[in-house]
Amino acid sequence: MKSRPRRNRKNEVIRAMVAETNLGVENLIYPIFLQNGKNLKIEIPSLPNIYRWSLDSLLLEIEKCVQLGLNQFVLFPSIEEHLKNKTATYSYSSENYYLNVIHTLKKEFPEVVLMSDVAMDPYSSDGHDGLVVDGKIVNDETLPILGKMALAQAQAGIDIIGPSDMMDGRVGYIRQILDENRFTDVSIMSYTAKYASAFYGPFRDALDSAPKSGNKKTYQMDPKNRREALIEAKLDMEEGTDMLMVKPALCYLDVISLLKENFPLPITAYNVSGEYAMVHAAAQKGWLNYTDAMLEVLISIRRAGADGILSYFAKDFASIQK
Ligand code: PBG
Repeated sequence: MKSRPRRNRKNEVIRAMVAETNLGVENLIYPIFLQNGKNLKIEIPSLPNIYRWSLDSLLLEIEKCVQLGLNQFVLFPSIEEHLKNKTATYSYSSENYYLNVIHTLKKEFPEVVLMSDVAMDPYSSDGHDGLVVDGKIVNDETLPILGKMALAQAQAGIDIIGPSDMMDGRVGYIRQILDENRFTDVSIMSYTAKYASAFYGPFRDALDSAPKSGNKKTYQMDPKNRREALIEAKLDMEEGTDMLMVKPALCYLDVISLLKENFPLPITAYNVSGEYAMVHAAAQKGWLNYTDAMLEVLISIRRAGADGILSYFAKDFASIQK
């Protein structure tokens, strides 16, 4: 045998030299769930070690993350049922505690990067990402609501807007409103290829945001489609997004790689709640090793081509680096 690939794997030093993929804490964005109130740290049964935080408790948690080198966060609000309505007006109301959380975090930790979620679902009495009229999720009438939400977040000091709603034309609409209001430095990371997935289950438990009727298949992408992601990516790029996201990550590694090869923008991937819960559940049963599985999951997403990864594993990863 002239060629023996095993020679390049024979010890740790050689393996490190020939490693094609790396992963650092700088690649990770940590999702944080919020709850209005004081001194709260509420467990989410389907998301082990992930909590809903009130602002005061969260300040201490962010401090710990920053000490671990974790500096990027994506924030999701849990909204009390009585504040939800058809048109999600609380999302851009000056009373919205989410906006106050953004403002306070940026004041206390000016160096951290904060990303928001733009979609109606946490605030909508219908639990959909867009406006529901006669049982249909209407696109163009949703855009002004998303625009107001994004503007309110920019005014609160957000660094990156994250439209997760999958309405057509929303990136361009939001970009224009931001620019008209002189928020030209606020970035957009669009949820570009967001699939209608079973893996969002624990997230919807965390926010109590599941659709009250129907499903999200008329706006989120069909898991059967790959080339369609190119259309979404082209539109988002033309409309002015700064980064393209694929979501979920693990069942869609091929889509991450497709976008990486075809678009010069940074690519991110959302390693979603169900993907995290699955690893925890198997580890709890002793069916796999938690840390090894976590590292393999994260590296596979990087290998597929993601520059950044939104992941519930971020803090555990950061902890073992230190
Ligand atoms: C809502 C939104 C969802 C997630 C992020 N933003 C759920 C959904 O579309 O129903 C899922 C994230 C996760 O599962 O970790 N617009």
